[in-house]
Amino acid sequence: MSRARIIIDRDFTIGAVPRRIFGSFVEHMGRCVYTGIYEPGHAEADENGFRQDVMKLVKELGVTVVRYPGGNFVSGYNWEDGVGPVGSRPRRLDGAWHTLETNAFGLHEFVDWSRQSGVEIMEAINLGTRGVDAARELVEYANHPGGTFLSDLRKKNGHADPFNIKLWCLGNELDGPWQIGHKTADEYGRLAQEAAKAMRLVDPDLELVACGSSGSSMPTFGAWEQTVLAHAYDEVDYVSLHAYYQEDDGDAASFLASAVDMDYFIDSVVATADAVRAKGKHKKHINLSFDEWNVWYQRRLDSEDQPHQVSKAGWREHPRVIEDAYNVTDAVVVGTLLNSLLRHGDRVKIANQAQLVNVIAPIMSEEDGPAWRQTIFYPFTRMAELANGQILHTKVDSDRYENARFGDTDLVDVSSTWDEENGKIAFFLANRGLEEAANVEVLLRGFDNARLTRAEVLQIPQGHDRLTTNNLQIGEHVGLTTLKDVKAAGHELTFTMPALSWAVVEIEAAKS
Ligand code: AHR
Repeated sequence: MSRARIIIDRDFTIGAVPRRIFGSFVEHMGRCVYTGIYEPGHAEADENGFRQDVMKLVKELGVTVVRYPGGNFVSGYNWEDGVGPVGSRPRRLDGAWHTLETNAFGLHEFVDWSRQSGVEIMEAINLGTRGVDAARELVEYANHPGGTFLSDLRKKNGHADPFNIKLWCLGNELDGPWQIGHKTADEYGRLAQEAAKAMRLVDPDLELVACGSSGSSMPTFGAWEQTVLAHAYDEVDYVSLHAYYQEDDGDAASFLASAVDMDYFIDSVVATADAVRAKGKHKKHINLSFDEWNVWYQRRLDSEDQPHQVSKAGWREHPRVIEDAYNVTDAVVVGTLLNSLLRHGDRVKIANQAQLVNVIAPIMSEEDGPAWRQTIFYPFTRMAELANGQILHTKVDSDRYENARFGDTDLVDVSSTWDEENGKIAFFLANRGLEEAANVEVLLRGFDNARLTRAEVLQIPQGHDRLTTNNLQIGEHVGLTTLKDVKAAGHELTFTMPALSWAVVEIEAAKS
C-alpha cells in the first residue's frame, strides 16, 4: 500500500474556479455534428433535428462552454455556407478531414443547440484561407442588433436578436504544417492582430483567443507564442494551448504521468506571456485557453478508416473518424489532466475537452441507435458538478514512482476546491499506482467538524483489467461506485483508493 498525506488550508487559495474550464468542442468532423448532436429523423430528435438523448448526456456532463466549428475544419470553412435556407446551402469538400460537408448544420443551428443545452458559445474564425474581412463580417452578422446588410440578413434567416457571442478563437493551430493556410509566427501574429482590431471595431466587448502552439513538442513552441504575442498582445485576451496524450507501447506508467507534461506546458506558456508583458511594458496579463485537450490514440490514424485514408473511399458524409474507445486507464489520466487545469486556474481560464460526441469523446451515439457514456465521462461530470467556489492550494506528500518519460512522479494526484456558500470541500484524486492501493490522509487547516457528503470511485471492474471500456455490447460497465470506509471527523479525513483509480471525496466542514 502506498501513502499520501494531503494538507489544505482555508487561507491558501489559488483563485475562483474558472467555470469555463469545463468546456468542450464540437467540430464538423466525423460524426460529432451529424449523427452526434444532430440527426433529423432519429427517434429522439426534436423538431430542429437535435438529438435529445445526446442533449441529456451533454447536460449531465456539465459542459459550460463549447468551441465551434473547428478545429482543422475551420481553416477552410466559409461561415456564409452555413446560414440561410438549408436547401440552398452549398455542398463542399472539406480538405481537413477529406469529408463531404452538406452544411445542413451551421451557425443558426449551433446557436439554437447551445441555447437548448445551456452552454456558452466559443466561435472560431477561419484565419487559414480567409482573413480580416470575413472575420469582421461574421461578427457583424452575429452580434450587430440590426439596420445593416449583414445583421438584417441574420434577421431574415430567422434570428431577430443578435447572438451576442463574446468568446472568439482567432483561427486554429496555424503553427501546424498540416493546417490549411499554415503560417509563420510573424505572418499569423500580424493577421491575428489585424483581425482582432477589425472585429473589435464591430463589437468592442469581445474576448479574443490567439493561437498558441498545437503541442509542447512542436519545434516552434515558445518562439511561436513569443512572436505572436509580441504582435498581438494588446489586441487579444488569451493564448491557446492544445495537447493530446496516449499510451505508447504499453508504457502505462508514463501515460499515467501525462499531467506532468500539461503542467510544464502551462507553466511555460505563462512564463512566455509574462516575458512578453515585461518586455512590452504591458499592463494586463494574457490568460490561457487550453481549448483542445484529451486522450487521443493518434497512432490509430494510420488504420484503415481514418481521415488521410478516407480518400481511398472517396468523399463521404460524416464518416467514422477517430472514435476512440476509452478504458479505465484513460479515465484516470483524464482525471489528472482536469486536476492540472484546475490547479492552474489562476491563469487557465478556459479549457475545452476535444471533442464532445463520437470523435475522441466522452459521449457516443449510434445513427438510429442509442447514446451512451464512455469511461472518461465520469471524472469530467463530477468535477464540473462539484468544483465550485475557490481552488485550494493542495499540498501533497505522496509516495512516488519511476516512469520512463517523466522520471519520479507522485503516485497520488489531487486538486481541491472550497465552496464557502455551502461549506463544501471537494477533493478530486487519482491513484496512478498500477498495482498498489493508496492510503490517503487529509489534514484540514482552518476547517472543523468535517462530515462526509459524497465519496465515489472509478476503478477496474471486478474480473476485468485496466483496458476495459464501455461499449454498446456490454454497456456502461465502467462507472462510479461508492468509495467505502471514508472516515471524516474533526479536521481529518482518511480513506483508501484502489490501485489505478479516480475518486471524488466531498465533505461539509465548518470554518474554525
Ligand atoms: O480535435 C481534433 C483535431 O485536433 C482538431 O481538428 C485540430 O485542431 C487538432 O489537431
